[in-house]
Amino acid sequence: MALLPRKKRFKGVPAPIVPRVPLAGSSQVGEEIKFHEVGIFLVERRMGSSRRRFLSELARRKGFWVEELMSESVTHVVSENNTGNEVLEWLEKQNGLCRNGFTATLLDITWFTESMGAGRPLEVENRHQLQVEGAVAVTEELISPYACQRRTSLMNKNRLLTEALKVLAENAEFSESEGRYLAFSRASSILKSLPHTVTKVEDLQRIPSLGVHSRKVIKEILEDGSCSEVESILHNERYQTLKQFTSIFGVGVKTADKWYREGLRTLDQLRASDIKLTRKQEAGLMHHSDLGAQVTRAEADLIKQIVERAVHIFLPHAVVTLAGGFRRGKDFGHDVDLLITHPEEGKEEGIIYQVIKWMASKDLILYHNFTGSSYKAKSMDPEIFDHFEKCLSIFRLKTELVNNLESEEVSRSDPLARNETRATGLADRTETSRQGTAAGAGERGWKAMRVDLVVAPFSQYAYALLGWTGSRNIFLQATTEEEIFAHLGLEYIPPHERNA
Ligand code: TTP
Ligand code: MG
Repeated sequence: MALLPRKKRFKGVPAPIVPRVPLAGSSQVGEEIKFHEVGIFLVERRMGSSRRRFLSELARRKGFWVEELMSESVTHVVSENNTGNEVLEWLEKQNGLCRNGFTATLLDITWFTESMGAGRPLEVENRHQLQVEGAVAVTEELISPYACQRRTSLMNKNRLLTEALKVLAENAEFSESEGRYLAFSRASSILKSLPHTVTKVEDLQRIPSLGVHSRKVIKEILEDGSCSEVESILHNERYQTLKQFTSIFGVGVKTADKWYREGLRTLDQLRASDIKLTRKQEAGLMHHSDLGAQVTRAEADLIKQIVERAVHIFLPHAVVTLAGGFRRGKDFGHDVDLLITHPEEGKEEGIIYQVIKWMASKDLILYHNFTGSSYKAKSMDPEIFDHFEKCLSIFRLKTELVNNLESEEVSRSDPLARNETRATGLADRTETSRQGTAAGAGERGWKAMRVDLVVAPFSQYAYALLGWTGSRNIFLQATTEEEIFAHLGLEYIPPHERNA
């Protein structure tokens, strides 16, 4: 479930790290900051003030960000000749911070000196970390605050908790509360990355970036088996209705909410209404039940073969790659994401139009919408999430083909030629009525399936592959400082309290 209308989501390069900017009066002013993702705090205890000053200046000259005071933006707390517990006690005394009040890593000076030697912040290893007695180390690995740095397999060991957080995130999305959406999504994503099941509240102690609200929800579930807030959202009529309407291809939160406010509650009521739908929503509503069914890996592989065949008619050396969730090892998905490129840059231009036109002439396309490349455009249309030429489409796939896919005979034969055969019940597709799919895909002999085709010039292919493999990069727009803090999951600190 996407917070912003899907088209507003950025599919290319990961969201930028907001640069650290030296504040007026800070000793960092005048130094170039090279490593924005790391904020260092040097513990004066046993280090002494003059050595601390010397090390701070050294680090700043090398482009590191060094904070004078402990704050939430510190990621690396460095100390010399202290145990982890001593550092925590000292921080508590000096800064009034309780040990759960920050998520920075406690490090020995060895990490600092090695990083200075290397001229860049080194990856934290176990030997660099200070042990804290009494704290429950939930994982041997450091949990990175960045989703793209956390190894998250498909084996989710905390499904009960992540499902609950997902409901809260969806509900925040429906209230267009982006900060809360991000906080709950981040909490869910972190729990997904854990190699073990969280069973008690203490397990949460060393997990970074869990907000107060998420912790409260997790605690309630761990103690009572469920969370009353989540239960009440699940029974909420507006939540249920918006969830249903946003499940229609082409319908975002704003539209769903408008329909809800107009009194609509079900898809049938929508079909019976005289509400004007866009071409995309019309297609989404007509094929709602097919598009709601999961796409299997076999279906995705078949679609890839079909597209590959069509592409090769025009460009024999083009490469077609299955991206999205299937590339991450998922067995089911909501769509098929295919990337097309050609080793000779420039040859790929226009291929998408040829392929879609050709496939449409064979009755394989139920809906399509091209977006041209916007590389050379002066400014980027905020409605477009990346620069690549693409076509969001709905394919018509013969079910017989999928059923027989495992048989060697079929998979060796030409899938495109087989899919070309006009299927029974095809008339349903062309009807402009909103009755949806009258018969099931089985009876009809074909299934509607969402397919995204993306064309990347060869030199951009790796970026496109990374972006389109996901699981998710979000391009967040911000017009106010408050929004930036919210995007980063941080509590908003007004300017007068930022004189660190
Ligand atoms: P999706 O097909 O939406 O996601 P998916 O393939 O991971 O999941 P599913 O199995 O449900 O199909 O998009 C493909 C990839 O494109 C996604 O993994 C990451 C990227 N992407 C974004 O970065 N931002 C977005 O808003 C969307 C929709 C996708
Ligand atoms: Mg996908």
